[in-house]
Amino acid sequence: MFDLRDIRFFRTAKYSIIASNFTQIMKILVTGGTGYIGSHTIVDLQTHGIEVISADNGINSEASVLEGVEALTHKKVKHYNIDLCDSAATRKMFEAEKPDGVIHFAALKAVGESMEIPLEYFRNNLLSLINTMDAAAQNGCKAFVFSSSCTVYGNVEKSPVTEDTPLQPAASAYGRTKQMGETIIMDAIAKTGMKAALLRYFNPAGAHPSGLIGESPRQTPQNLVPVITETAIGKRASLQVFGNDYPTRDGSCIRDFVHVCDLAAAHTLAMDYLINNRSEDLISIFNLGIGQGVTVLEAIAAFESTTGMKLNYSITARREGDVVAIYSDYTKAQKVLNWNPKYNIEDIMKTAWQWEVNRNKN
Ligand code: WQD
Repeated sequence: MFDLRDIRFFRTAKYSIIASNFTQIMKILVTGGTGYIGSHTIVDLQTHGIEVISADNGINSEASVLEGVEALTHKKVKHYNIDLCDSAATRKMFEAEKPDGVIHFAALKAVGESMEIPLEYFRNNLLSLINTMDAAAQNGCKAFVFSSSCTVYGNVEKSPVTEDTPLQPAASAYGRTKQMGETIIMDAIAKTGMKAALLRYFNPAGAHPSGLIGESPRQTPQNLVPVITETAIGKRASLQVFGNDYPTRDGSCIRDFVHVCDLAAAHTLAMDYLINNRSEDLISIFNLGIGQGVTVLEAIAAFESTTGMKLNYSITARREGDVVAIYSDYTKAQKVLNWNPKYNIEDIMKTAWQWEVNRNKN
């Protein structure tokens, strides 16, 4: 169990230096603010003294997540329950708030699900991006940080991938919405008066060390780490490992798991980079992974060794849309944003499990 000291440390220690860079930032709008990465990013932004506005339609999250955020930062978050596919409502919110910058998380994001309902993924992910970017440009925003994904690289031949690795056709509709999203931003940014950062996440996982916020989707999670913790706590009878016949060291797929708090810190750094005009380019692209490939079976072993629990799993057929192996070279984010991820796969499993236990207490 994490005690309050963790929270106090988190709030005061390593961030005070960077906080001074934010004096000129008044307000940041976070779309998808009650979502997994969105909520952790709000904590990080507020820890730097930034005023945050949250917008979310609650399709896959609960506004009550913000209670955990406020318990951590002791700062209110003004929240709009809004569908960003509604251009009039989106514009009205921007006109009312006039944020200095936007971090756009709002999107559907399950690779497997996107192959089941592709049209909903294209409609939701692209229309919400277009409406948000348009309203931001019309209301004086200077910085647009976009939640992109390593799925834009497609089924890469080799890893680690850098930001210059040529993009292959995406392996899923979800990945295609992120590729198209990046293209839309590249084509439109010069006409908006903004600068943009495209943050290509690898596999986000884990939870805030306080145990007060974590991954809490409305829909049944499909990604590996929450499926592991739900199996361990008994919400699922067993975990299916989708294939162990891939050309990898143990036959299961390889991924680059990055802690959600490391990801959150990167968003604050990227916003600082854009708003403080340190970027010469209109568009900056950054890989956000920790550069370590971990197989699915190794991730399971890390959970078991960290928690001392035995996981019930079976090997089943491959899942459509899965990439065999991908992990990052994050040198650019390290050099340009001074981003230094501090959590590893064991920390991910420890914090994810702590959160699963906490969220099932009441
Ligand atoms: C990882 C591996 C599965 C569940 C994720 C995010 C996506 C994007 C890219 C940010 C695969 C295997 C999974 C299970 C399994 N991130 N698996 N059994 O597909 O890499 O995509 O990263 O934008 O939003 O979802 O993540 O966790 O679904 O799968 O064997 O029950 O785990 O086959 O090899 P994926 P994932």
